[in-house]
Order: sequence, then structure tokens, then C-alpha cells
Amino acid sequence: MLNYRRSDTALPLRAGLPDLAARIRQNLPPDAHAGSEIIHTPEVLNMTPDYSLLCEQLCALAESSRDPIPVLANASALLYEAMENVNWVGFYLVRGGALLLGPFQGKAACVRIEKGRGVCGTAYAQDAVQLVPDVHAFPGHIACDSASNSELVLPLHDAAGAVYGVLDLDSPLFNRFTEADCLGLSQFARTIEAILHEDVHSS
Ligand code: SME
Repeated sequence: MLNYRRSDTALPLRAGLPDLAARIRQNLPPDAHAGSEIIHTPEVLNMTPDYSLLCEQLCALAESSRDPIPVLANASALLYEAMENVNWVGFYLVRGGALLLGPFQGKAACVRIEKGRGVCGTAYAQDAVQLVPDVHAFPGHIACDSASNSELVLPLHDAAGAVYGVLDLDSPLFNRFTEADCLGLSQFARTIEAILHEDVHSS
């Protein structure tokens, strides 16, 4: 597995939602360039969706409400619809020092994950992206769906930089998620953070 640390590149505060996607597009994603030894098939490499467009769509959907429930519900729906060979997309949110199941698309999933447990709990504990080409090789992996073979988990942060929750994606394919997915989904995660936590009411 690869661990990608988040960057400290904070988005400037007090910008309006219409500008958000454009600013995020120009923002380099986290330092996810650590050399990957994973070899992906051409089919997998061709699966990368237009993440910038997905960020713009999420910003547009968030214009009527930045409440976490509709924002995260629509975020999981957009990704689930746009991504091929993904059987679960959703959020776990920090509650009382553990992760609690949030909005998602896919089969029913485990409700509570302790900090440090499984792929999600590891992403939370380490505040680091977890790219897992084979979940069966990940110590303590929590199998919510036996069809899942690879997984990608990205931490989300609150305005103070603390972990707010995680974005979790599962695939029935081994080795499904690429560095392009890490970069694009980091951009998507920064968009969610900006929608939920940034003061966008510019004067
Ligand atoms: N596999 C995850 C648990 C969540 S489900 O995949 C939805 C983990 O090991 O943390």
C-alpha cells in the first residue's frame, strides 16, 4: 500500500462558490507523487473521470445548501455514477474519536470504525491517503462487501485542519485506483472541505 500525506496548501478564505472550482483547479493537489511501483492495466488507466467537472458539479449542487447531509450525499452519488468498477463510495465522519457511517452509495456497510482500525481508521489515525491495491493484504481490513478487492481512502479536514472524516471508495477489481485517481479525488476532497468549512460569504 502507499501512504500519501496531505499537503498544507490551504485554500484562501472568503471566496464565493462560483470561483471555487476554478481556484481548486489551479491548486496543486497534495504531494501524491511518491513513486508508485504499481503497474496498472490500460483499461484501468482509461477509467479516470473528469474530476474537475465533478468538482464543478458538486459546487453547483451546493449552491442551495452547504449542509453536510446533502453535500456528502450528492458527492457520493456523483462519484458512484462517474466511476467505473466501483462498488461502494461514501463517507465516514469523526464522532467521539471514532468514525461513524455517513452518506454513501453501495451496499449496507459497517456503522462504526475505531480510530486506527481497517483502511478507514488508518487514514483517520495517520491523516494520510491510503491506496490499497489488494485489501486482503492490508492488516485489519474490514470487509463490508466481500466483492471488494481494492480500496482508496482520503481524509477530509475541518477548518482548523483536524480530520473531519474520510472519503472511502471500494472496487471489485484488484489494483483499480491509480495515482490520477488519488490526485483527482484529493482535488474533490479539497472541494468538499471548502464547501463545508470555508466561509464563502464574501462581502
Ligand atoms: N473496508 C473499510 C471499511 C468500510 S467499507 O469498505 C465500506 C476499512 O477497512 O476500513
